[in-house]
Amino acid sequence: MDMAKAVATPTPKDLEITPRDRRFGRGEARYGRWWLNNDPIATAVYNALSVTFPKGEGFFIDSVRKFRDGAPPKLAAEIAAFTKQEVMHTREHVAFNRHVTDQGYDISRLDKEVDRVLDLAKGRPAIASLAATMALEHFTAILAHELLSDPRHLAGADADAGDM
Ligand SMILES: [Fe+2]
Repeated sequence: MDMAKAVATPTPKDLEITPRDRRFGRGEARYGRWWLNNDPIATAVYNALSVTFPKGEGFFIDSVRKFRDGAPPKLAAEIAAFTKQEVMHTREHVAFNRHVTDQGYDISRLDKEVDRVLDLAKGRPAIASLAATMALEHFTAILAHELLSDPRHLAGADADAGDM
């Protein structure tokens, strides 16, 4: 990634958030225990990432919603679309994480750690949660960009798990 360019690039004028209502890993499409190349470690890395998402996305939604009232129409529409998108992401991560726990993984420690980190925002001004959301979504975008631009990362994944 060209960091100099990334820093200098503003939000595109034509940016539009398009929530996509997709489902993964249901019914016949359920994945195997070590869905990434039968590799328990690689699988666990992505499983752990997914485990953090439902609560993280709930935090994002709460953080953004606090700025909905009085927002100009374009921003209000973006907040609504973002919320819808995050709700669908959460639904898919909850389903995915059910698969993870069904495979015998104990996610309780990781789950507690997510609570601990998100609790840091409690009692602080709403803008702090919004700033944390922006920072975390930037990390998400960096990870997503890398994941989508280099097919080696998910080569050999069970189809629906890789798509997810
Ligand atoms: Fe999301």
